[in-house]
Amino acid sequence: MQFKCTETHEKFREEIRAFAEAEIKPYAFQWDRENHFPGDVVRRMADNGWMGLPYPVKYGGAGKDILTYSIAVEELARVDAGTAVILSAHVSLGSWPIYAFGTEEQKMKYLVPLAKGEKLGAFGLTESNAGSDAGGTETTAVRDGDFYILNGEKIFITNGGEADTYVIFAVTTPGIGTKGISAFIVEKGWEGFTFGDHYDKMGIRSSATAQLIFQDVKVPKENLLGKEGAGFRIAMATLDGGRIGIASQALGIAQGAYESCMNYAKERVQFHKPIAFQQAIGFKIADMATRIRAARMLVYSAAELKQNGEPYGMEAAMAKQYASDAAVRISEEAVQIYGGNGYLRGMDVERMYRDAKITQIYEGTNEIMRVVISGHLLGKPPK
Ligand code: CAA
Repeated sequence: MQFKCTETHEKFREEIRAFAEAEIKPYAFQWDRENHFPGDVVRRMADNGWMGLPYPVKYGGAGKDILTYSIAVEELARVDAGTAVILSAHVSLGSWPIYAFGTEEQKMKYLVPLAKGEKLGAFGLTESNAGSDAGGTETTAVRDGDFYILNGEKIFITNGGEADTYVIFAVTTPGIGTKGISAFIVEKGWEGFTFGDHYDKMGIRSSATAQLIFQDVKVPKENLLGKEGAGFRIAMATLDGGRIGIASQALGIAQGAYESCMNYAKERVQFHKPIAFQQAIGFKIADMATRIRAARMLVYSAAELKQNGEPYGMEAAMAKQYASDAAVRISEEAVQIYGGNGYLRGMDVERMYRDAKITQIYEGTNEIMRVVISGHLLGKPPK
């Protein structure tokens, strides 16, 4: 591992941090309380060229590396994890499969507006009977002349309802398992494509999460992404990268909670000195800083591997697992350091504690992360 953050990366961090502090942080509590999707902030991020950070300029992107994108998600999550996942789901899940598996025509038609931030992207894999077992997909796509007819429902879809472009997974050949699943690009507004209500979530409440409903939706055959039957591998490869995004989000939450409780601990006086200098609290701060440093190394090194075109699926799963556990632990300890004050609505650490939990669940639970990691280490069991 050669991981190194350059001066350019740190300059970018300063830029996006200043934006997040000014444009997001002051409103984060209100968005959380009101379940408000910050569409105007997403538009401003698009104006800044951040909605397509890691994509080539010829496809409307900013031509930056994966580490820059990871820093962007981290810095947004440091103040509001909901805004961070809007970007992560858009870049990693909604746009990447089109970039990696799309034809030139599909890239021009769909990736360019996504990368420019003119359109928002989402990814529809999860179903009520296909969560961790993503191969259990039941949504069907039946070929009919120049179209596929899509029927089924997707649940828990980040950016659902707000996004314009969806990468959807459906069974084209039933009865053959994962090899019978295909991927499609589906547009909001097509007849028969509707949304359920936004979920009323515990955290990341500024992000929109909705159910997708497909009733005889006519998808042009040109919108098949990759080959028929390649959908499951497209989904898995997409999630490998998505997990770097979620790991970055978790890292940002951990950093935000750490900074907040550190400031508080230096001001709050009990037993005649700031509580930061009581060993019980000082040790918590030491453990937090250690976990954050370890998480950052795992996240950035996974980003570096992806950037270099090296295998990174295992490292992304390790980063996601470790950083999300760290985010939950650190935000919990941050509430503890704040004491009764930290338990009140409107305190940033209270929101961060709720926000952190999802990072252990979505884009593969941490139990599935261990399935992925051990699978890489051990291979398939003997027959
Ligand atoms: N890249 C490319 N191909 C892959 C792959 C990868 N990372 N992982 C597996 N594959 C291929 C395998 O090589 C295999 O191909 P062959 O049949 O040709 O050998 C095929 O896919 C099937 O692989 P498995 O037998 O390993 O599949 P499985 O059914 O046992 O499942 C799993 C494996 C890792 C448990 C997988 O189901 C999984 O990742 N589950 C979690 C799903 C998930 O993360 N869901 C989150 C949804 S997105 C989200 O959270 C929403 C949001 O908006 C934030």
